[in-house]
Formats: sequence, structure tokens, C-alpha cells
Amino acid sequence: MPKIPLARPFYDGRDLEAVKRVLDSRWVAQGPTVTELERRFAAYCGAGHGVAVNSATSALQLALMALGVKRGDEVILPDFTFPATGNVVLFLGARPVLCDVDEGAFCMDPEDAASKVTRRTRAIIPVHILGHPAPMDELNALARERRLKVLEDAACAHGTEYRGRKAGALGDLSAFSFHARKVLSTGEGGMVLTNDGKQAELLSALRSHGMFQSAWKREQRFSLPRFDILGYNMRMSDVTAALGLSQLERLEEFIERRRALARLYDDLLSGSGLPVAPPREAPGCRHNYQTYAIRLLRKGIRDKVLLRLQAAGIGCTIGTYSLSLLPLFKGKCPRGRSAFRNTVALPLFFEMRDEEVHAVVDELKKAVNV
Ligand SMILES: Cc1ncc(COP(=O)(O)O)c(C=O)c1O
Repeated sequence: MPKIPLARPFYDGRDLEAVKRVLDSRWVAQGPTVTELERRFAAYCGAGHGVAVNSATSALQLALMALGVKRGDEVILPDFTFPATGNVVLFLGARPVLCDVDEGAFCMDPEDAASKVTRRTRAIIPVHILGHPAPMDELNALARERRLKVLEDAACAHGTEYRGRKAGALGDLSAFSFHARKVLSTGEGGMVLTNDGKQAELLSALRSHGMFQSAWKREQRFSLPRFDILGYNMRMSDVTAALGLSQLERLEEFIERRRALARLYDDLLSGSGLPVAPPREAPGCRHNYQTYAIRLLRKGIRDKVLLRLQAAGIGCTIGTYSLSLLPLFKGKCPRGRSAFRNTVALPLFFEMRDEEVHAVVDELKKAVNV
């Protein structure tokens, strides 16, 4: 275990109490607690409906299915993202078309996205990468003009804001993750948000064997379920949802502390003379700092820096991947590749102490200057 981990979710007696209530009730599968989390998380983000699932990967795949993406369609997504964003497109037999990112926040570049639209393009997936919002006004305008659907990959973007509105309610649909490294964490989990009630019904059938009625509803009043469509089991349990609800209560507190820690990092790094650039926050945006990723201004040193930090007990990793460098994808995205090669994620978590931020920056000085 590193002395200062990269990430660490925060739980206390309130989380234990919430989980205990569900265990005591003996209804532990998907049930009323999942429904309550869907209602509250959708309301927090400003969306009409939530459909909870077991991961953001499932959420992304179901959302694309609900949009009718199928074999032969093209879907545009940014190069600099986690592979799941592209894998779900491949799973549906559609073609992922990579577009480049901007150099500031590493999000989808609307001009490059526009140049990739063909008559086969069905949807775009802006990714709020590392917790910074994508330029949604420009991307929504492109989608309107070219009649495309917009699926936000909001896996990292709980509470992230764009021009006064929360991520997750800025496109047609969105997908969130509740994985251990996310700001709101249930270990594993995810959710799709939509404003369309019919779409929410379809999504909830797809996540549960194609059934249009849940086990919980049947428990209240017997009726034979219908299996009209092909579905998966991608459900969330009520145990997981209980943790989601107690974490949601404190989400704003989590984000405010992360932002304060990020400001401290920004100040220390700016005054350090190190050849590194702190992450940028575009005007009118609220970064939730799910990941605090610095850009190394000296090329070719990322892996050496990661190994040195790790040897000093500092948890760290790359920013994220460049899909065009992976065998499953194709594309020419020089800015995405540069983001992959030159970013380093530093420790950031709710309980982190200011002294630990100082300690990370001290070790970074040694690691960068060798
Ligand atoms: C941008 C992005 N999309 C999707 C995912 C997949 O999330 P999950 O692990 O919940 O499937 C991740 C995970 O880190 C991610 O960073």
C-alpha cells in the first residue's frame, strides 16, 4: 500500500447504517432502494429519470442500444478516454470513430468531431474526462445540425458543472460510474439518465432480462412478467444503492474538499518552477477533480516519474488512455496521444490532508528533476 494512495473512498457510520437498514429489511436485490437512488441522483443532476446498473460500461452500452445504435452505424468519441467508451460501440457492431481532444481540458474537440461526421454517424459520445465537462454547447449544436444523438460519458463527472448546469443532463442520455475511484463510490455501479420516460422503461427492461416489470413490483402484486425483448442482467442491488444514497448526501462536501485540495496543488505547482502544468478549468465550468492530472512539459519522462513517485510511496497513474494506440481502434489523434504520453494523475481524496499535498509535490520535484 502506498503511504499516500492515489484515491480512497470515504465511508463512516452513516454508510454502515444505510447498508444495515437494507440488510435488516431482507430485500437485498434490486428493489425500493435502487428506485430511491435513481430518483434522487436524477434529481440532483437535473434529469427526469435514472436507471441504475452495475457499471458505467453497462450504462453506456444500454444507452447506445436505447438510441438504436446498430451494426454499420458510426459513433464519434474522443481519443483520450477509458477504453470502455469505445468498447461498447464495438460490442454493438458499430464503428467507433475517434476524434481529437483540446489541449486544455483534454475533452472532445468540436471542430474535429464535425470533420468526422458522415451519413452513417448516428451519435456522439462527449466524455467529461477526469471530471472536467466537455464543451457541450458546441457539441449539442453540431448534433442538432447533423441530426445526431448525444450520449454523455459522465463516468467521472458527478457534480461537474457546465455553464450552471450539472453534467448528466446536458445531452440526450448520460452514463455514470460509481466505481471505487469515482467521487461517489459504491465499489462498483453505474446509472443511465434520460428525460424520456419511454426510453427509461426500455433501459430498465434491457438491464433485467428484457422484463417490463420488476421483481419488486411483482412482490407487491402478482402479475406474469413479459419477456418481449432480449435483455441482460446488469442490475444494481439494494445493498449497493443504500451506499449510493448515503454517499449522495455528502457529494457536495466531497467535491468542495477535492476542489480545495486541487487549489492547493495548483498554488504549489505554479510556484515550484517545475516543468509541469496543473489541470485547467475552463471558464463557467466546475471541475469535480475526480482525477487531478498534471501535464509534464518535458517529453518522454512520464514512466520514470510514475516509477519514482511509486517508489517514494505516492500512489499515481497515467491520466487515461489514447484509444488510437490500442489494437482495437484506429485513428490519428496527436493531441490525444500527447495527453496519454504526458499526463500523470496525483493523489486526491476526501480525507487527504494539506501536508500530504505538500509531501506529494516535494516528491514530484525529485521525480521530475532526475
Ligand atoms: C470515461 C470513462 N468511461 C467509462 C468508464 C467505465 O466505468 P465502469 O468501471 O463503471 O464500467 C470509466 C472508468 O473509469 C471511465 O473513466
